[in-house]
Amino acid sequence: MKKSVNDILLLFLLSVLCLTQKIACLTDTLTATQSIKDGETIISAGGSFELGFFSPSMSTNRYVGIWYKKISIPTVVWVANREVPLTSTSGVLEVIKPGLLVLRNDTNNTIWSSNSSTSVPNPVVQLLETGNLVVKDANQEDPEMFLWQSFDYPTDTFLPGMKLGHNFVTGLEVYISSWKSFEDPAPGKYTYHCDPTGYPQNFVKMGSSLQFRTGPWNGLGFSGVPSLQRNPIFSYEVVMNSKEVYYTYKLLGLTSTRFTLSPTGVGQRWTWDNQTGSWIIYLSAPNDNCDSYGLCGAYGGCDTDNSQICGCLDKFSPKYPDKWANRDWSNGCIRNVALDCQSGDGFTKYSGFKLPDTHNSSYNTNTSLEECRRICLKNCSCTAYSTLDISSGSGCLFWFGDLIDMKVISAAGQDIYIRMASSESDSNGKKGKKLVISLTLSLAMVLLALSLVLLLQRRKKKRAKQQKEEMQGHILSMAYTDEHHKDLELPLFELSRIIKATDKFSFNNKLGEGGFGPVYKGLLGEGQEVAVKRLSEHSMQGLDEFKNEAICIAKLQHRNLVKLLGCCIEGKEKILIYEYMPNKSLDFFIFDETRRTSLDWPMRFHIIQGIARGLLYLHQDSRLRIIHRDLKAGNILLDADMNPKISDFGTARSFGGNETGANTSRVVGTHGYMSPEYAVDGLFSIKSDVFSFGVLLIEIVSGKRNRGFLNQGHQFNLLGHAWKLYKEERALELVDLHLGNSYNSSEVLRSIHVGLLCVQQCPEDRPDMSSVIFMLGNEGQLPEAKQPGFFMERNLVAAKNSSSTQASSSKGAGKETKERFRRGKKNIVK
Ligand SMILES: *[C@@H]1O[C@H](CO)[C@@H](O)[C@H](O)[C@H]1NC(C)=O
Ligand SMILES: *[C@@H]1O[C@H](CO)[C@@H](O)[C@H](O)[C@H]1NC(C)=O
Ligand SMILES: *[C@@H]1O[C@H](CO)[C@@H](O)[C@H](O)[C@H]1NC(C)=O
Ligand SMILES: *[C@@H]1O[C@H](CO)[C@@H](O)[C@H](O)[C@H]1NC(C)=O
Ligand SMILES: *[C@@H]1O[C@H](CO)[C@@H](O)[C@H](O)[C@H]1NC(C)=O
Ligand SMILES: *[C@@H]1O[C@H](CO)[C@@H](O)[C@H](O)[C@H]1NC(C)=O
Ligand SMILES: *[C@@H]1O[C@H](CO)[C@@H](O)[C@H](O)[C@H]1NC(C)=O
Repeated sequence: MKKSVNDILLLFLLSVLCLTQKIACLTDTLTATQSIKDGETIISAGGSFELGFFSPSMSTNRYVGIWYKKISIPTVVWVANREVPLTSTSGVLEVIKPGLLVLRNDTNNTIWSSNSSTSVPNPVVQLLETGNLVVKDANQEDPEMFLWQSFDYPTDTFLPGMKLGHNFVTGLEVYISSWKSFEDPAPGKYTYHCDPTGYPQNFVKMGSSLQFRTGPWNGLGFSGVPSLQRNPIFSYEVVMNSKEVYYTYKLLGLTSTRFTLSPTGVGQRWTWDNQTGSWIIYLSAPNDNCDSYGLCGAYGGCDTDNSQICGCLDKFSPKYPDKWANRDWSNGCIRNVALDCQSGDGFTKYSGFKLPDTHNSSYNTNTSLEECRRICLKNCSCTAYSTLDISSGSGCLFWFGDLIDMKVISAAGQDIYIRMASSESDSNGKKGKKLVISLTLSLAMVLLALSLVLLLQRRKKKRAKQQKEEMQGHILSMAYTDEHHKDLELPLFELSRIIKATDKFSFNNKLGEGGFGPVYKGLLGEGQEVAVKRLSEHSMQGLDEFKNEAICIAKLQHRNLVKLLGCCIEGKEKILIYEYMPNKSLDFFIFDETRRTSLDWPMRFHIIQGIARGLLYLHQDSRLRIIHRDLKAGNILLDADMNPKISDFGTARSFGGNETGANTSRVVGTHGYMSPEYAVDGLFSIKSDVFSFGVLLIEIVSGKRNRGFLNQGHQFNLLGHAWKLYKEERALELVDLHLGNSYNSSEVLRSIHVGLLCVQQCPEDRPDMSSVIFMLGNEGQLPEAKQPGFFMERNLVAAKNSSSTQASSSKGAGKETKERFRRGKKNIVK
């Protein structure tokens, strides 16, 4: 789509031709006597969209598609022949009587065609200003009379004005389907639907399996997507009547916006930022682990704030306590007291939830909540009810059967009234009930869980209060200039409180040394344990990292990222306050002779997968899109349940919509984890993080450090050693001896293989994190791993010695210290 001089010449020639020949030029319409060839396009009347031939990046196949005309980044919104690419530039698109749009290849075979059963005397094809390509009779303007329109057959993009849903008259369902990959527009595994069964809600599906549910439409938005709110860019609604049910949205201003479903099944809402010339992700879903459909089973509730993310609703208990304790939540929970409809049931109110799946629901409008209750009570199979439309507060939604896929959304969740045996119900509408974390093991664990719940509740109350007070006072003065920083809600803590919590930063409370200063354990007044990271006074570089970390992590939220609770900026003190991680960091376990024995394979695999998910979120699904740049065992923290959480964002970099990396003269990171192109040339990208992840993975499997690994037989480092074993089909010899034989060898082999794919020399060869997660979780053939980068300790040492200035490393024995060094590229590349 780039214009070269030749193209411009061609365009000029074409416009001359237009005058003399019957060829469509600079117009939005093709008539039955006209056609367009590869290289020619038609443009919508207002110049917003263009239709023509294109190749996806990294592909030479030709497709007919529609893209934004005014937007500088090539953005394809629709593809005609997505399943049958043209292999040359000889395709021709034309309109034929009585009303078909057809694409032919050079042997005149039809590659793709629109379809319609009606015929008209004078068919034309027109690209409308909305991006809708329509086949119609020349003088027909009524959309009802169009023979065919691309809006009925969208690909991966949901544009303003499209109707996502069902037309009961024609039987047509309009839904979005992902591309197979970023290079291949053929239909991929994922689809996005508006499902009217029971009561409308949208789903992301993989094949026929449900992956993510938006929750039912509640009049204002979707119950499970609280971040979709009224905004100046677009308005949205669900339309329901006897003829059709659909979800649609329209533009309010001039800013372009689109919704896409990525090849990895993530729904993303993009808006165009005219200032920076890039697409910005405004919303994305699924967004956290609790968004995975039905994770906690029937009557389970998912809460990302809990370390054990699934809990049973209050007054319910795990159906199979053993499985539940082993994190298999699929069987869900059952009632503590069985229902007895005949002798009169009641209801209990649960607040702050994404409403359960409405597949088996019914609804009525115009009823009050009291009437809803009466109606539900009368029907023994009605298990719950709630308000239908929260904007007007009227109508009822009734559930029949089990309640599935509930998630705690404290701030914007909804109320639901669940049927209970009379002894359990709070007939007079007492205070709302929450989740109970159900652990069935020792009393100690029950106590632990209880104190956790208390802590969380207190923290939430406290946070809300603090935010109110503090937002009026001092706002962080750190460079929050663009409009996306409005949503930064970082509570400020008073210095006196931190000093008290850490006992004046006492040495006894020191946990270690972080990227830019010491880290202390603190105990807030309410008994809440926190980790306090204090910026060293004389660290200039530290200040940048401090700001960077505060900005980055305040905007990130994922189960596998450490959570920032607040910060403190007073005088010279700059402090960040985090959730406390009782199990310290991963290096504390895997490299320690005794502690590593407590990490069995399932736990190690769980940790590997968690890190991968956290990293995927950073790279792809978070709003900032972040390259961490210093991923290592010491930066993976472990919570009470040994869930991994990525920490230390001091050197992380955010990157824009389309770029995937950059170049720096200041290389920061840790030896042994740095990819060759980054350590040597200062090139960092998501693929340099993938490299570090691969190193980490192999360290977790082997229980050995990459750095300083010695083997009698050869000069390789751990990566080289692993690769050697893998080539000789002896990869299992890499496994940490402490694991004994108690591991699933196919899982282990697969992990090693994936680790080696991640550390390949060429960044292009390394998979991205979504593929990593897929490969770890699924059987199937993996590509052959090529030689790893930095597979001998020597080549790293060589690179290191030639650097001009460099900080010294290794302080305490066994402690991982961050090394930074600064150097010009020329010193290295000879
Ligand atoms: C293809 O169709 C065009 C126009 O209809 C015709 O001129 C050409 O000869 C045909 N080519 C072949 C190989 O049939
Ligand atoms: C044209 O399409 C037909 C049918 O798909 C195919 O068999 C043929 O090989 C194609 N011709 C070229 C030159 O690609
Ligand atoms: C058009 O094609 C689609 C899929 O290719 C099919 O589902 C639909 O029924 C067809 N419509 C008509 C009118 O033939
Ligand atoms: C976007 O920026 C371009 C120039 O950079 C300007 O011509 C255009 O009017 C702007 N569009 C909007 C919607 O602001
Ligand atoms: C709806 O009801 C059917 C039949 O009882 C059941 O098989 C299905 O799992 C239910 N679906 C949901 C989402 O509750
Ligand atoms: C709902 O109630 C309002 C006022 O009470 C009435 O005007 C409206 O017609 C009712 N709608 C339905 C669908 O019953
Ligand atoms: C209860 O509701 C279900 C679903 O709407 C309906 O099929 C059933 O007939 C109702 N039962 C009674 C007793 O009203």
